[in-house]
Amino acid sequence: MNKKIIVTGGLGYIGSHTTIELIQNNFQVVVFDDLSNSSQKTIARIETITGEKIIFEKVDLKNEIRTGQEFSKHKDALAVIHFAAHKAVNESVKNPLNYYQNNLFAILNTLKWQYELGIKNFIFSSSAAVYGSPESLPISENNKIQRPLSPYGNTKKISEEIIEDFTKINSDFSAISLRYFNPIGAHDSGKIGELPKGIPNNLMPYITQTASGVREKLKVFGNDYPTKDGTPVRDYIHVVDLAKAHIKALTRLIENKQEKPLEIYNLGTGNGFSVLEVIKSFERISGLKLNYEIVTRREGDVPELFATTDLAFKKLGWKAELGLDEMVKSAWKWEQNYRNHNI
Ligand code: UD1
Repeated sequence: MNKKIIVTGGLGYIGSHTTIELIQNNFQVVVFDDLSNSSQKTIARIETITGEKIIFEKVDLKNEIRTGQEFSKHKDALAVIHFAAHKAVNESVKNPLNYYQNNLFAILNTLKWQYELGIKNFIFSSSAAVYGSPESLPISENNKIQRPLSPYGNTKKISEEIIEDFTKINSDFSAISLRYFNPIGAHDSGKIGELPKGIPNNLMPYITQTASGVREKLKVFGNDYPTKDGTPVRDYIHVVDLAKAHIKALTRLIENKQEKPLEIYNLGTGNGFSVLEVIKSFERISGLKLNYEIVTRREGDVPELFATTDLAFKKLGWKAELGLDEMVKSAWKWEQNYRNHNI
């Protein structure tokens, strides 16, 4: 049976972990990546972990012609999992056109060519950002979609609308959009993990880089929110759990089990942790005292975000299994391996 899957952005943070899960579930993976925010070294790391080869095509999905050429080479694929996108929230605020251009051209060209070449299954990497500042908690898939607080988030909302329109008119095309909450952690081998270029925006890499001495001090953005300890609460989810959800979604598409042309699922744990709780978990696991200070709020942060996870459990048979300590432990292992061995 043909089990070839095209993974765009397959060398990125979530893409690389999903590629490993795919290989371990006997899929053959073709990675499309432009290396704009990833390293070619990740190919060797994935191959060491899995003992299998992946096919790698360096392609900029903004380029319609090139994208078509690459898809033509792999038109026997069963599905596309589309991760390729820029994802830095504050960068997107500073350079919105770049974000709209990159993220939207990439999905438009991907949908166009895969459909034209007969690849009729699509999984999209979406975000809880599409809920904007949520009106009620926990956030279910039926929560109102609102204008996201950043151009980055808006590219995810617009992409979902594009997919919706596309599936409406093409009844032989099936899509699943997965709305991630806050993915953190790394593969338990310690061989791959998050590798932000430059200064990290997100909490977990900032914590691990501060502890390893790359950053001087973590700034905690506000402790005057209406939450359990005053710091914002998020639904952190282990990247390996997240990767496994993609296998479940893919299987549902391949087996034709979907009930609607576009299905949407939240991917979170359903548990909210505050910034201070994440720091405490890190200190407990690493045995280190983290250098941090409380500063003013960061613009665009909402007090609290956490998911309902019932739908993913009911329809995909998926549930997050790993807790906060496991997320933090794996992120710290990755950071230490990476710094000490430059792997
Ligand atoms: C953001 C995006 C989300 C995206 C995710 C990963 C929005 C609304 N959210 O989530 O869509 O998927 O990044 O790219 O667009 N914090 C600090 N100090 C730091 C960094 C973070 O205190 O140096 C705090 C923040 O205030 C926040 C929490 O840590 O309360 C988590 O922040 P972060 O990791 O950046 O994720 P989000 O902003 O929740």
